Order: sequence, then structure tokens, then C-alpha cells
Amino acid sequence: MKKRVGILTAGGDCPGLNATIRGVAKALYVRMGDNVEIIGILNGYHGLINGDYKKMEPDDFRGLLTLGGTILGTKRTPFKMMQVIEEDKIDKVAAMKKTYKDLKLDCLLCLGGNGTHKTANLLSQEGLNIIGLPKTIDNDIYGTDVTFGFHTAVDIATDVIDRIHTTAGSHSRVMCIEIMGNKAGWLTLYAGIAGGADIILLPELPYDIDRVCAAVERRAKNGSNFSIIAVAEGALNAEEARMKRKEWTAKRAEAGFGATATNRIAAAVQKKTGMETRVCIPGHMQRGGTPCAYDRVLSTQFGSHAAKLVEAERYGVTVAMVNGRVIENRLEDVAGKSRNIPESCDLLTVARRMGISLG
Ligand code: F6P
Repeated sequence: MKKRVGILTAGGDCPGLNATIRGVAKALYVRMGDNVEIIGILNGYHGLINGDYKKMEPDDFRGLLTLGGTILGTKRTPFKMMQVIEEDKIDKVAAMKKTYKDLKLDCLLCLGGNGTHKTANLLSQEGLNIIGLPKTIDNDIYGTDVTFGFHTAVDIATDVIDRIHTTAGSHSRVMCIEIMGNKAGWLTLYAGIAGGADIILLPELPYDIDRVCAAVERRAKNGSNFSIIAVAEGALNAEEARMKRKEWTAKRAEAGFGATATNRIAAAVQKKTGMETRVCIPGHMQRGGTPCAYDRVLSTQFGSHAAKLVEAERYGVTVAMVNGRVIENRLEDVAGKSRNIPESCDLLTVARRMGISLG
């Protein structure tokens, strides 16, 4: 019997989404031929709520391996609002179920991060046949060692650090580079080590500005005329770490756009050390462009695995990489959890061994 497979990309985009869509589609066509029809849901759960979709043809999946972004479009539709009826009076969960039913889908593949997985699990509990695929440059999805998009972002952030290195040296400056990752510091830790940062500040390890300045001064005393500080977007000091997350995000929002952790750290370092300091924020560049070779392979592994799950009608799961093997985890075991850097992380030990200050 012919299977109708829906596919959507939700949350922030990342390199590898299109490569994963391609992986799913190609493997489905190879395995099932004319017995499969693919429906692209546009702009994530927003499209599922509003019934925005596109019937896909095999030709639509050509040229996707190297293409950044997502051909299906994406949107942030926060999980916490999914069961809340807002001004538009739309019951979002009922609307999503209706679109699924109207399109006569046999299953729906949801490519996304933590928020996407929470909604995927909700839909699964509501009786829909769901398969998740873990994407995010943050690499913080529970139950998988790696997510697609992460290694491309590591390469981009590392390139930024490399380039900043030369200008930092020329000008004898302290350069603070803000790397994406609000709750998880994996991207900053990997790029910081790959780029040879002198100080790495992570959301998981509250920093002490005096220790940061001491590390800069120590380097200067030992003859290094510059320092590179890799700061995760969500890095926080000890005082902020004691606050409720809501409190400090409100405090930062109040201070406006320029008041990122990195800007505040840079100002404090310049004031305390007397060294000229600059900030570099590569921002969404870290999510743009073509996926690196690693992510193309991972996306193809994940996509083709999802196709196998569709054929086997194994639903309520999300694809994962564990110890080098592609497996699937139950959505209910993953949703609502996240994967942060544990104190026991080997890379933290490596950083300390290398004399990198973690603040
Ligand atoms: O989750 C991926 C991510 O890039 C985070 O690192 C970052 O904090 C956030 O998305 C930015 O979100 P937005 O694209 O909505 O600005």
C-alpha cells in the first residue's frame, strides 16, 4: 500500500537540514519506489497548524546535499504555547491533528531541536505516527552524541577565532568572541579548543570576572600581547547563576541589545586590565551556508535510517547516534530533557590541562 509521509523542519535552522531531507527522500524512493508520496509541511509546526504544505516530487530533492537552510522553511512555534489558546482562538493541537488527517498522512517526520522534540512527543501521545530527527548547532539533544549542524557550526566558529587571532596579535588586544549557545556550551568548547582560545566561558560553568582578568594578565606577563576569549552566548557569572533563569534573562533584556554577556565581559576586562578590548559576534553566520563533510555524512546516515523506520512503521521515536552507531530513542525518553556539558566531560579536562582558563 502507498505510504504518505509528511516532513517538516521546525525551530532555528542549521546546515544539514536539506541534506537530511534528501537522505530521507532518496532512501524512501530507493526502498519503496512509487509506493511512497512525500508531503512537505511548510514553516514547521506553524504550517501544520495552518495546513500549509507542498506535495513533493523526486526532482524537488535534487541538489540538496550541499544547500544550507531548509527548503521547507522553518519557524519557532514554542512548545509552551502549543496547548494555550491565544487571541486567534485556534486550538493548535487539534489543528495539527486535523491537517495530518486531512492530508491522509501515514506518518510525520519532525526535524528539529529540543522544542521540536517536545511537540513531536506531544503529537505522538495524541496518536500521530511521529519520527524525530535531531538537528541543532547547540548539540544539546538528549540521547544522541551528536546532532547534525553542530560540526559545521564548529568549523565556522573556529574559522572566526582563527581570523580574530591574527588581528588580535597585530593590535595587542583582548578579543572577546561570542559563540552561539544559550544553554549549552558545546559549540564554544569545541571551537574554543580548535581555535586555540586562551579563555573559554560556558553556560555550564559560571565565571568569575576576576579570574578571567587574572588569566589575561598572566598571559601578558608571560609575553603574550593579546588574548582570545571565547564566550558562549549564555555564559553567566556566579551572581547570575544563583538567579532563576527568568530573572537573569529579564535583567539582560532590560539592558537592551548591546548588553550581551560578551559585551559586559569585554567592558570589565578592559577596565580591570587596562588592555584594549574588542568584541566580535558572528551570530547567525554560524547557522548559515553549506554543511561540512561530517554533517553531510551524518545527515545522510540519519535520513536513511529514518526512511528505514518509516518502512518498518516504527514510530514514536527519534534518530540518534550513540557510540558511533545510528539507533533510535523513544520520543518520550528524550522530550523535555537536554544534554549539557557535564563536569566530567573529557574536553574540560583537556582544556584545563592545556592551561585554558574556564573562568
Ligand atoms: O538553537 C540554536 C540557536 O542558534 C542558539 O544557539 C541560539 O541561542 C538561538 O538558536 C538563536 O535563535 P534565533 O535564531 O531565534 O535568534
